Amino acid sequence: MLSVLVLISGSGSNLLALLRAAEHPLFPAKILAVGSDKPAAGLAHADLYGVPTFVVEPGKFSDNESWSKKLEENISHYNPDLIVLAGFMKILPSSFVQTFSPRIINIHPSLLPNFPGAHAVRDALASGAKETGTTIHIVDEGVDTGPILGQKSLVVLPSDDESSLHERIKVLERKLLVETIESLALKQLDPVTSR
Ligand code: GRF
Repeated sequence: MLSVLVLISGSGSNLLALLRAAEHPLFPAKILAVGSDKPAAGLAHADLYGVPTFVVEPGKFSDNESWSKKLEENISHYNPDLIVLAGFMKILPSSFVQTFSPRIINIHPSLLPNFPGAHAVRDALASGAKETGTTIHIVDEGVDTGPILGQKSLVVLPSDDESSLHERIKVLERKLLVETIESLALKQLDPVTSR
């Protein structure tokens, strides 16, 4: 059984998809805890499923390094096999990545290496891309640069705006996340050899 700790910053719809999947007795992963950098709305999903949560707010620390050390402490307490960044919007310092690498994965709303960064959906629309999608990758010390574990794509519609396109991408993300966690748990994917 793969043990997973999820970090979020927002609505947590990807987290919810994972919590739902993990309810199934044959699903090969369990969610140990959910952490956030703010009192994110998505933490309520974890509460509903009886999964413990913690919040470590950067504003309460003198610098990024001490914030991330506290985050590390909280995570290490649960000793997860895998950390999933599911809409976690803070950049993690190198020391954090080195502690957990390659057992940290991120969901990104574009077909990487296209459109890395915080405005992937907006950037894809602005570039006139005909196709976009979502990527799950191992987190390395760059921004959205780590080895790719899986992708799903869709066609950009003429009627799409940033919000409609992001919502359609998120439908794909939820499926891709559940499939990827399942593959990692069943060792059909291995973060170590994917590096
Ligand atoms: C997703 O689109 C993910 O790719 C991005 O943040 C969004 C999180 O959505 N990193 P949600 O909070 O899971 O609904």
